[in-house]
Amino acid sequence: MLVTEARRRIERKKKAAALPAPAGDKRLVILDTFMKRQQFRGDALIEVLHKAQELFGFLDDGLLLYIARALKLPPSRVYGVATFYHFFKLKPQGEHTCVVCLGTACYVKGADKIMAAIEQHAGIRNGETTADNKLSLLAARCIGACGIAPAVVYDGTVAPKQTPAGAVAAVTKLLNAPCKSNS
Ligand code: FES
Repeated sequence: MLVTEARRRIERKKKAAALPAPAGDKRLVILDTFMKRQQFRGDALIEVLHKAQELFGFLDDGLLLYIARALKLPPSRVYGVATFYHFFKLKPQGEHTCVVCLGTACYVKGADKIMAAIEQHAGIRNGETTADNKLSLLAARCIGACGIAPAVVYDGTVAPKQTPAGAVAAVTKLLNAPCKSNS
């Protein structure tokens, strides 16, 4: 009896350590409900990762482990999928995001120069966030807007036919925007 209780306590501790946020976090409840709706199927992993990222902003180790356990998948598989796709973020994101499409259509129209100009201006590399947490710079393979290439997504809004100078101007605006928590 005592052994069972001790084991349960250890399990509870292990589970708590794996949680990405304090127990009782509403986002976990929403994620659980979502996984339940998917019947905890392993082949719903990508949808579940999307939902988790939508809720938490990024997928840290604890969250990935939590999902692996819930879907009864090896953690290595969950981690492998999360790192394979560019749209899954494993680190916290800044207050603003700038996603430069580096897919073929955008690339041939100078997306690499746009990325380089932003990197130089913001002082960060692709995949990084500024020290003040203001801006995250990311790359996408193709955002489905090839007709308006080169495209850049600023805070979720797709901007068409970008140039290095135009992109730097847009990023400057984001960097100078008042902090959301102050507005
Ligand atoms: S390659 Fe950039 S939108 Fe398709």
